[in-house]
Amino acid sequence: MSDRIYTLSGYLYEYQKSVTQPEEFWARIADSFHWRKRWSKVLKWNFDEPNVQWFIGGKLNITENIFERHLFTIGDRPAIIWEANDPNEAGRTLTYKELFYEVNRFANALKSRGIGKGDKVIIYMPMVPEAAIAMLACARIGAIHSVVFAGFSSSALADRVNDCEAKAILTSDGNFRGSKKIAVKAVVDEALEKSSVETVIVYERTKQEVTMKEGRDFWWHEVIASESEQCPAEEMDSEDMLFILYTSGSTGKPKGVVHTTGGYMVYSQYSFDNVFQYSEGDVYWCTADVGWITGHSYIVYGPLLAGATTLMFEGVPTFPDAGRFWAVVEKHKVNVFYTAPTAIRALQAYGTEPIQKYDLSSLKVLGSVGEPINEEAWHWYHTHIGKNKCPIVDTWWQTETGGIMVSPIAGITPTKPAYATLPLPGVQLCIVDPEGNELTGNSVEGNLCIKFPWPSMIRTTYGDHERCKQTYFSTYKGMYFTGDGVKRDHDGYYRILGRVDDVINVSGHRMGTAEVENAINEHPKVIESAVVGYPHEVKGQGIYAYVIADLTNRTEDNLINEIKEMVSKIIGPIAKPDKIQLVPGLPKTRSGKIMRRILRKVAEGSLDNMGDTSTLLDPDVVTKIIEGKK
Ligand code: WTA
Repeated sequence: MSDRIYTLSGYLYEYQKSVTQPEEFWARIADSFHWRKRWSKVLKWNFDEPNVQWFIGGKLNITENIFERHLFTIGDRPAIIWEANDPNEAGRTLTYKELFYEVNRFANALKSRGIGKGDKVIIYMPMVPEAAIAMLACARIGAIHSVVFAGFSSSALADRVNDCEAKAILTSDGNFRGSKKIAVKAVVDEALEKSSVETVIVYERTKQEVTMKEGRDFWWHEVIASESEQCPAEEMDSEDMLFILYTSGSTGKPKGVVHTTGGYMVYSQYSFDNVFQYSEGDVYWCTADVGWITGHSYIVYGPLLAGATTLMFEGVPTFPDAGRFWAVVEKHKVNVFYTAPTAIRALQAYGTEPIQKYDLSSLKVLGSVGEPINEEAWHWYHTHIGKNKCPIVDTWWQTETGGIMVSPIAGITPTKPAYATLPLPGVQLCIVDPEGNELTGNSVEGNLCIKFPWPSMIRTTYGDHERCKQTYFSTYKGMYFTGDGVKRDHDGYYRILGRVDDVINVSGHRMGTAEVENAINEHPKVIESAVVGYPHEVKGQGIYAYVIADLTNRTEDNLINEIKEMVSKIIGPIAKPDKIQLVPGLPKTRSGKIMRRILRKVAEGSLDNMGDTSTLLDPDVVTKIIEGKK
């Protein structure tokens, strides 16, 4: 592939070119894709509005670039290898040709139900190939998918369904996760009580009992039964919406990050090819869920655009035991393995015995994503999984960036534990101080911004452009603000230090503190709450909630359990607080603002230096909180 970087000097050359001649650079990359009509202008941008457009006037369909573009050469190559939750259940392999036919059949089924270009479709499914088929079928006909992680509760699902005014939901009867069988359709039914969704299509996975509403609910296998394997791709504009993906921010309401067709396509393949240095025939495995951006860009779109073989795993790392990941690596001879630090730390706790049983010699490249990887986990991963021969690509990026922004190029960029190293071509990073002054040179630390557009960047937050502007483009003028703190060391290498806003990162999942507080406050006994993150050995960050509550008719333990259940029900089990402390008051300034800095310190257990507390309305509250900490 002509756009592949093979050497460090090649990387430096390409990077330079991408900065000095960005339009020429991206036009060259984009030219290896199939456009029904070529663009008339590569880029138009303005970060104040913000308004960013790539490959303007270009017409295409992303699925034509996955299938038709190279079907003649790779039709019989495995596209998706699927490994079931239970190791005793047979897996499935779909070649590119088979996947193409399945996508077309399902695309036709959607069309038969009146779903077409511009319609929003929610996908709430387990990790089965049909989840990818659903996404691609939407893209084929120009419908806009919004995948919701199947661990979210019915009310979280309902919020997303209503926010994007979804016309249809694609789901399953149930979901196998480890030793559990989880109801999925029942959650959808609850979410749909007050919605205008016209169609629900249910994939049969667990065969558990479900209720089907006449005229609204249909079985997947029935709707595709009579559909043709041919479905012409809808012609899309480069800037037509491809998908919406909801993510947490510093306010209570999740926002729908919007990605568009042309730029996302170009960047997801370009970054996949280069970061992982995928070679023909390799088996690539990303352990994320399709409900997150990592699943979108690096299980489905990036690898499939690149003609890669992507492995999809339905289960969890510890079922039936803590050797499962390694059993799957051995079984499918996985060459590239991409996971999250939280999974590495969780497995690290089981020691090396579960690894020793398996042959991991197929591995060539290891990846990490979702949160900062601590040095200890990095070394463990490198030594015990990579056997000191696999480069680790620590990839920093976000739902909003659409693709990997800072990462080593596997085997080419010299790595440094806990460092995401250097930006990919096209990514112009900028470190600023709190006033927005750029900190130039090396050995500096500040907030991470990006000062020039890249093709797969967020275009808007669905239905609320102002929010996009306020959240990302208003903190520092003329720049996209990531919300992360960063250090550039003496070598010019980047180390991500974690969020500097009210977002916490629990096991690589983003959570807005306000979102969790809102859920806690739903409990009738809760008067007020404040949530912060604290360092957690396995999860990276844990959720610590300070709650003012009325204890009449409750014991402390009862109430704490009830609050945990409440959060689980409103958002989902991933948001359940790890620790809840009942407190008599919260440290507030005279203007009523909660001083989270203090709460973070107490949660961390660093109690000696509270910093300046003179602006607090009632400094005694801090002493009481410290005394009450268990
Ligand atoms: C964090 C996940 C350090 C970061 C792709 C970012 C990371 C947030 C890394 C985005 C990394 C992601 N090192 N921190 N390699 N990767 N993050 O939207 O705080 O779920 O802002 O996207 O995860 O999370 P999101």
